[in-house]
Amino acid sequence: MTAQGNNLDPWYHHYADRTANLSASEVRALFAVASRPEVVSLAGGMPFVSALPQDRVGDTLDRVMRERGSVALQYGSGQGDPRLREQILEVMALEGIRGSADDVVVTTGSQHALELITKLFINPGDVVIAEGPSYVTAMVVFRSFQAQIEHADMDEFGLIPEALRRKIASLKADGKRIKFLYTIPTFSNPAGVTLTWERRLEILEICRSNDILVLEDNPYGLLYFDAPPPHALRSVDEDGVVYLGTFSKTLAPGFRVGWALAPHAIREKLILANEAAVLSPSSFSQLVISDYLATTDWKGQIDTFRGVYRERRDAMLQALDDYLPDLSWTVPNGGFYVWLTLPDRLDSKAMLPRAVTELVAYTPGTAFYADGSGKNKIRLSFCYPTPDFIREGIRRLTKVVNGELELLDTFAGTGQLDVVRQDLKYISPPPNIN
Ligand SMILES: Cc1ncc(COP(=O)(O)O)c(C=O)c1O
Repeated sequence: MTAQGNNLDPWYHHYADRTANLSASEVRALFAVASRPEVVSLAGGMPFVSALPQDRVGDTLDRVMRERGSVALQYGSGQGDPRLREQILEVMALEGIRGSADDVVVTTGSQHALELITKLFINPGDVVIAEGPSYVTAMVVFRSFQAQIEHADMDEFGLIPEALRRKIASLKADGKRIKFLYTIPTFSNPAGVTLTWERRLEILEICRSNDILVLEDNPYGLLYFDAPPPHALRSVDEDGVVYLGTFSKTLAPGFRVGWALAPHAIREKLILANEAAVLSPSSFSQLVISDYLATTDWKGQIDTFRGVYRERRDAMLQALDDYLPDLSWTVPNGGFYVWLTLPDRLDSKAMLPRAVTELVAYTPGTAFYADGSGKNKIRLSFCYPTPDFIREGIRRLTKVVNGELELLDTFAGTGQLDVVRQDLKYISPPPNIN
């Protein structure tokens, strides 16, 4: 059912046309089930905030209230706190970005920046090109502004320049208006892959020569496990890229503070749109983050997060190797996600009820495509459960995959994966997986 409702809804005929595209995402529907304590959830993208020094954060809250309470509790500027905007420059410098605090606009999470940019650029029917697969809730935003979402394929090195070229050519031949390329070049959600430096340059050139704005979404770039990733797209192109960042993954999403670094002209409109939407982003959250950055070893804290997530990534890859050796998956060098490919004949969405019965949750691949592709794909998140629970989750998933294959075999009489015959040791479910 869409948000446009049904005949039981007395307002059925009153909703705006744009709500026709507003349907509950697979991720959203999953949350209710996945949050049950007995389910190992490999579904959501929740950062492991328990790794934060919570007493330090508490001290920060106290200090902000004691020293700047009347500012923290007041409306602020529509562009965001000036000191925080300067500090954001230091954060972005770690990814090779140089800019001016004047061009930073603080938003209510980067999700809100996605909404504002879409609002500024998209008329109904305009095209957004996104990687296939792409971040589900960005596509919810694009759809809610009645954009046509077109995918360009990616591989283990990120978006494929030739695929982008072909997509642009065919859209132009059809007379379509392409407004921007939405990309998560580093540790992408959901695929976990990273665009190489050479491809970064090539993709920027393709967009520049076709007059297409680039919307670079980079929540995970600082969470690398081995070598640092290539610098951001924005580090090479100031005029053609709107860069989105956030404190959600390197600090905590509860503050709801993200930002956009935009070319000058766009920045002006962005501030007006921000003011129209929220008057000003939360002064309280901004001041707390600003104080945290000024008084805490925040880079050391990001290192701690890296260590936590690296260990979990390793646990997931090891469990996949042990339990599902015949399948293939991406090997992320950072971020939160592994992208798993099932045998062609499996449908991960149809398999989900069986997974929930086996007390494991994941996000089906179709959530990450606008065109119904991704049936045999699964996004697995390793950010939240501990390594033991990750292993247990993959063990349960193996049972689900094998059960589904057996079922298909019963009807089709085809062969099974080797993994079906493996002797999987039963590990009793832990009492609490959250
Ligand atoms: C790719 C991507 N962009 C944007 C967001 C939104 O993050 P926030 O609004 O918390 O900054 C997320 C959250 O998971 C994400 O994965």
